[in-house]
Amino acid sequence: MSTRVLTGITTTGIPHLGNYVGAIRPAVQASQENDNAFFFLADYHGLIKCHDPVQIHRSTLAIAATWLACGLDYERVTFYRQSDIHEILELAWILSCVCAKGLMNRAHAYKAAVDANHAEKNTDPDHGVSMGLFSYPVLMAADILIFNADLVPVGRDQIQHVEMARDIAGRFNHRYQEVFTLPEAKVDQDVALLIGLDGRKMSKSYGNTIALFEGEKKLRKQIMKIVTNSQEPGEPKNPDESTIFEIYRAFASSEQIQMMRQAYADGISWGEAKQVLFELINKELEPFRVRYQELMENPAEVERILQLGAEKARAESQVLISQVRELVGIYRLG
Ligand code: TRP
Repeated sequence: MSTRVLTGITTTGIPHLGNYVGAIRPAVQASQENDNAFFFLADYHGLIKCHDPVQIHRSTLAIAATWLACGLDYERVTFYRQSDIHEILELAWILSCVCAKGLMNRAHAYKAAVDANHAEKNTDPDHGVSMGLFSYPVLMAADILIFNADLVPVGRDQIQHVEMARDIAGRFNHRYQEVFTLPEAKVDQDVALLIGLDGRKMSKSYGNTIALFEGEKKLRKQIMKIVTNSQEPGEPKNPDESTIFEIYRAFASSEQIQMMRQAYADGISWGEAKQVLFELINKELEPFRVRYQELMENPAEVERILQLGAEKARAESQVLISQVRELVGIYRLG
């Protein structure tokens, strides 16, 4: 059996260029080699952070359209929406009953919230903490274990959650029977974290992102806003200290990168370096952007694709959940 890869995307935002370079592009490429891949829209996870129904709904469509537009082959891989797989929630409860509360006390997201309350001298350490936030790793464990995934590609901040899924799986296997595969987190070392307009990691929370599909004009405008030093045209420049060059590297061939190094040494102006960067990124994104627009204007088509995915996914999750229910003693009396 081939290695099964699974990953989820929380539906709270609109994908930006950093998401594209760090997650979408590598996942689409990997799925061309391994079709035993599960990608899903984690809309129940979205509810933990985002209480705006319009945003949740819009983000679900935008993320689905983005992945499809970027070439995810939904007929080969399994692409679905978490909330369509009812078995995930059933499993989450059953796992809650094998998961120690103490394990959840140690989860980074929860601890960060408690620390923030301490820092603000809040008398209630759990101020603002919902049960959703607290037991978030259990839901994530259910996402992973319901399909017995081997590998879970995630960002660094999510490694702990995958380890918790492993821990929870181990407890269940020990208490009842060996049903769950113990998953492993996969953090890709080669995939560069894209840096943002201000030179820090590109992230929605820093407000330094470049939009992925908001059109050529916007793309150009944002690239022109990349922060540079005040070196003049003609002055030799150090590519390794330039945000423009950093971003360029994420899109260029090794040949192009070499040529650009030379251009920096020869004193290319910041304006021109930005223009070249814009053209390179735009060339890669243009065909995807067209498809993205089509899908955004045709949500019924996206829905159809997600339903196909749900059908494929549920063929497996239903089998697993009945096995699990039986193991814990919940099944028909006669
Ligand atoms: N929590 C993940 C994130 O914020 C998203 C996610 C939800 C996920 N369920 C998952 C990732 C299962 C991998 C596997 O990025």
